[in-house]
Amino acid sequence: MVRNVASEIRDLESEDFYLLSGIEQGMRYSEWVSRGKLPEFSRLTAEDVTYRIDRCEQRGLLERRTIQYEGYRLTFEGYDALALHTFVERGAIEEVGTPLGVGKESDVYEVRSYKPVALKYHREGYTEFRAVDKEREYTADSEHGSWLYTARQAAEREYEVLADLYPGVRVPRPIDQNRHALLMDRMEGVELSRARLEPTQARPILDLILREVSEAYDAGYVHADMSQYNVFVASEGVTIFDWPQAVGTDHPNAEDFLERDVVNLVGYFQRKHPQEVPDADTQAIARAIRAGEFGSIGAFEAS
Ligand SMILES: Nc1ncnc2c1ncn2[C@@H]1O[C@H](COP(=O)(O)OP(=O)(O)OP(=O)(O)O)[C@@H](O)[C@H]1O
Ligand SMILES: [Mg+2]
Repeated sequence: MVRNVASEIRDLESEDFYLLSGIEQGMRYSEWVSRGKLPEFSRLTAEDVTYRIDRCEQRGLLERRTIQYEGYRLTFEGYDALALHTFVERGAIEEVGTPLGVGKESDVYEVRSYKPVALKYHREGYTEFRAVDKEREYTADSEHGSWLYTARQAAEREYEVLADLYPGVRVPRPIDQNRHALLMDRMEGVELSRARLEPTQARPILDLILREVSEAYDAGYVHADMSQYNVFVASEGVTIFDWPQAVGTDHPNAEDFLERDVVNLVGYFQRKHPQEVPDADTQAIARAIRAGEFGSIGAFEAS
């Protein structure tokens, strides 16, 4: 797990961030940034580079390797520190609070701002990057820095999709994005997987969720990872989140993804509440969504 760097960035000085962002720049060209290049990339004197490397290394914000040459790269903690620093400078956040969720591909924290906000650090590429690390040490530098790139792209994509969907579809309101990090409104409620629904609520809630899937489709997107883990349920309604893998409705596999999303949702309700949702026809539902007719008929008339 990646450590929460929030409490440490207060001790960091501007020049520490110059060094970190210098390494970040260098990682565009090679996975391990040569020490000799650091004064140029970070605009610090060689002496200051030495001093800053020690400070950042002690805090686990960078890693050193000496094989063919002395090289440095950011850790995810170092990348987190850069993104967090940017949000603080922009006045977007005041304080990072407790974790809201730790996924395979992200860490989500509660954040104090003018209202409750969630900070999601994307971690795509992280496990993969650890697994191939050993082999890569001696291979050509063709995929250098790929985890920064992969994680940043996921955050950019998620921000873009949320910005397109909000407020027509019930998704968290996107606030800001930097590097691999995304700020959005904190959702009310609980994950569908943990919600205790009365039997009589099963059909109306499934219907509400499918209506949002349908609205998203009308707005041009298929979520493509719908499940009981990516829906929040509250007394005010449902919210669908976790959108980085979403595809446009013009994607060649959009139909398959939509059908799989519907099957996942309906299947979950059928397992949990077999009496309430015995006969939902997933193909008919997907067809109605694609035809733009779902909104007027709902899940059970579509079946
Ligand atoms: N805006 C938010 N408000 C409150 N909690 C959130 C918010 N976004 C995410 N979370 C919490 O963090 C968890 C992980 O978020 P999300 O599903 O977006 O990331 P993920 O890494 O793709 O998760 P996984 O891979 O486990 O599905 C969620 O299950 C949820 O509990
Ligand atoms: Mg998720």
